[in-house]
Amino acid sequence: MEIPPPVELKLPLIVPHKVLMGPGPSNAAPRILQALSQPVLGHMHPELFTIMDEIKKGIQYIFQTKNELTLAISASGHAGLEAVMCNLLEPGDTVLVLVNGIWGERAANIAERNGAVVQKLQKSNSNDNFSIIEIENAIKGYLPKLVFVVQGESSTGIYQPLDGIGEITRRYNCLLAVDTVASLGSVPMFMDQWKIDALYTGCQKIIGVPPGVTPISFSQKAHNVIFNRKTKIPVYYLDMTLLGQQWNCFEKNLPRLYHHTTSANLLYALREGLAIVADEELENVIERHQRCAERLYKGIELLGLEFYIEDEVKRLPSVTTIKVPKGVDWKNVVDYAMKNYKFELSGGLGPTVGKVFRIGIMGYNATPENIDKTLQILKEALAYSKNDSKL
Ligand code: GLV
Repeated sequence: MEIPPPVELKLPLIVPHKVLMGPGPSNAAPRILQALSQPVLGHMHPELFTIMDEIKKGIQYIFQTKNELTLAISASGHAGLEAVMCNLLEPGDTVLVLVNGIWGERAANIAERNGAVVQKLQKSNSNDNFSIIEIENAIKGYLPKLVFVVQGESSTGIYQPLDGIGEITRRYNCLLAVDTVASLGSVPMFMDQWKIDALYTGCQKIIGVPPGVTPISFSQKAHNVIFNRKTKIPVYYLDMTLLGQQWNCFEKNLPRLYHHTTSANLLYALREGLAIVADEELENVIERHQRCAERLYKGIELLGLEFYIEDEVKRLPSVTTIKVPKGVDWKNVVDYAMKNYKFELSGGLGPTVGKVFRIGIMGYNATPENIDKTLQILKEALAYSKNDSKL
């Protein structure tokens, strides 16, 4: 062979153990890691179909929905956003996107790529959420086909309450899509009760599964829109009319469609991630995350640090943003934690780059012990960084 086998591949694989207290991914529970190492099954094997049916039930539980068109996409959370846009929008449709961070911006970008007319409801400050009046006025003004909301902006740590928005979108005959990639499991979600038409979450955050599968669900109203399009869904891989057949979401007697080769092992992991949530029960999972967030807030105040989101009720429990104090280089702090403790603290993203630290409280990692360790390391890293800048 002209190109020899790489010498690097002759060495053993080495993966360090790190504690991931950034905005995700989080560490996977041992039960999930064990599920990943089970034997591979074929994507058309009946045992895998049973696991897919169990996953569907688990997603219906965590979303609190009875929607039939509920499944997991074989791709990371970002694909949930792409799937919402490419299935629900057609060229020329108007979409209203609520933007107070990078994920709202990303949604606007993707909607535009799908040929939609994008209107943004934007905050002058990315550390605030939208009132129901602001949302209703924007809907009244633009009369969009789709309204897109991020429940938990991991780039800013802002939490957007959803209660009441669905009543408005129904009144104005538009669809409501919600991104819960970073929020689901740390705050309530009632997809049916809140009249949400499209919803997706990230598996690598509170569910604690390695990235690569994305729970998603569409209401009957969204289902009808998808099946009555004038134009073809532009992305074959994310076409819900086909994926729904692979996941047996339509007529139960139809044979499963081979649409693409699913990753059996990631599906086992997702099944176990959902089972862990079901065992603990959703309300307890949410409460655990909120208790950890309160513990973190107290510790942050004791350290004399300031929150990016001043109003506690507007903070997303799963991602806390803390202002970088004057005279501190955020990167030194983050690097110190990683180098000395293999502990991930994160810097800002999008509008918060260079301005904040982001601390994630997610899934298996959401324990008082991890919160205390985070505070201890942060304190030490800040002291180091201040001394370092005097040298
Ligand atoms: C990813 O979701 C991030 O916020 O960094």
